[in-house]
Amino acid sequence: MTQTTTTRTRHEEASAEPWWRQAVVYQIYPRSFADATGDGIGDLQGVLERIDHLDALGVDAVWLSPFYPSALADGGYDVADYRDVDPRIGTLEEFDRMVAALHERGIRVVVDIVPNHSSDLHPWFQAALEAGRGSPERARYIFREGTGPDGAEPPTDWVAMFGGSAWERVADGQWYLHSFAVEQPDLAWDHPEVRADFLETLRFWSDRGVDGFRIDVAHMLTKDLTEPLPSQAELAAMPVDGMHPLLDRDDVHEVYAEWRALFDSYDPPRTAVAEAWVHPSRIHRYASPTSLGQSFNFDLLEAPFEAAAFRRIIADNLALAHESGSSSTWVLSNHDVVRHATRYGLAATEGASVRERGIAWIREGGPEAELDRARGERRARAATVFILGLPGSTYLYQGEELGLHEAATIPAEARQDPTFFRSGGAELGRDGCRVPLPWEADAPAFGFGGEPHLPQPAWFGEHAADAQAADGSSTLALYRQALALRAALLAPEGLEWVETGRDDVLRFARPNGWEVVTAFGDAAVPLGADELERVVLATGGIVDGAMPGESTVWLAPAG
Ligand code: NOJ
Repeated sequence: MTQTTTTRTRHEEASAEPWWRQAVVYQIYPRSFADATGDGIGDLQGVLERIDHLDALGVDAVWLSPFYPSALADGGYDVADYRDVDPRIGTLEEFDRMVAALHERGIRVVVDIVPNHSSDLHPWFQAALEAGRGSPERARYIFREGTGPDGAEPPTDWVAMFGGSAWERVADGQWYLHSFAVEQPDLAWDHPEVRADFLETLRFWSDRGVDGFRIDVAHMLTKDLTEPLPSQAELAAMPVDGMHPLLDRDDVHEVYAEWRALFDSYDPPRTAVAEAWVHPSRIHRYASPTSLGQSFNFDLLEAPFEAAAFRRIIADNLALAHESGSSSTWVLSNHDVVRHATRYGLAATEGASVRERGIAWIREGGPEAELDRARGERRARAATVFILGLPGSTYLYQGEELGLHEAATIPAEARQDPTFFRSGGAELGRDGCRVPLPWEADAPAFGFGGEPHLPQPAWFGEHAADAQAADGSSTLALYRQALALRAALLAPEGLEWVETGRDDVLRFARPNGWEVVTAFGDAAVPLGADELERVVLATGGIVDGAMPGESTVWLAPAG
């Protein structure tokens, strides 16, 4: 095992703040990033071989979605061994080599921890099945007797996140709880062995030099399953105020306080970011320095490309971050949602958020006539460069730097998302944002490696990284330029709105005078002579002394 010391990240050079507070973190979905072994599944060696891409992009950190041994019932979020690498993805030695190589480039490494549930193939669950009812092995999971004659009905009518009952019956007649897929039994977080084992896992990866952790469904671990259990309707009617039986319970922070002590025992302290879908008023609990330290803010995933929506979300989340003592996070895409270039290229429908609109479009088979690809990309460039100017950290999702759209036309037989299977095909799920990346326009599988485990559409070639690297006007060139400039311009975490007198334009200034202006509508925004001199980045160029509609500019500090 190698333990590498991270060189200071780009903006740490210029400031004394902890690296994560204003980092650009690039999410790698390992199975779809780069396949060095040619089996059609991305791997750690692939990450190593594409390290120049990450370096040239200028990210401060990478976050790897799960790469652990898994039957892939939920894209790797069904973990069979928390302290190993899936043989299809690599080995622990390769992991160490990858971490060392990333650290050498000044890129930190964040790994995904999935504590709410294990895989049903995890040795603990296998032992629980074998040991039978009432056994200590079953106590690490949530087993209950059924209801109705012979206990043939589930203990409650609870519905799993991916559809269908949240309970599954095992051979001897007992039922176990799975909040997600059947293959993801929920762990019992009141069990000391569960708590101790996760501490060991966090120590294992921290000792290997990992810099931080992304905590999957951080708000669901602890549960109050005192009988009688409530019905689904009763659950839905209960306030989520810290005492809800299943969600966002106050006692989950007892777990994170232990984790925090472990993180802080390292130098530098390990970081964590919570994936917690909780009411905004409760986010600060996860983001607090005594808990995980930072929490995702997913509001922009739901928001239309509109000035008022962006302004409200930014103001709210900066206030929430301030309340917790953390920094805010900004996210436009990840492995769970329709890519933002596509969301922004679809006309709005009444009553649906842009996220729901994207899902509905996929369900319809992704009709080309409804998607304005160029507009989506234009808006995505403007939105990304806008959020990269904000105080806090930005999470980018692999492929967005290539301007990738959602791959909506995956045939049923190639689909992998449990949502698709649990809904009987009614929901198509998240495979369309997980299609392997196009690296080379003219290579087989667009340079990904072997025959991709999810099929790449023909138009993926138009987004290939090699072609974009050679084109100064490409989205990849824009991301590289933006990240390099951001590192140079980065200011303390303040923001001041500059009123523009227009409701389709947002403008803000950072404490060092760096300004960001975004035109959300179609109309151009004229810039004054002094402003034109200060333009250092323009997602739509400057036309006749004005920034075009649906574009963002960065203005360097005056003087
Ligand atoms: C959230 C992850 O982002 C998602 O991909 C996964 O399906 C669920 N948690 C369950 O682990």
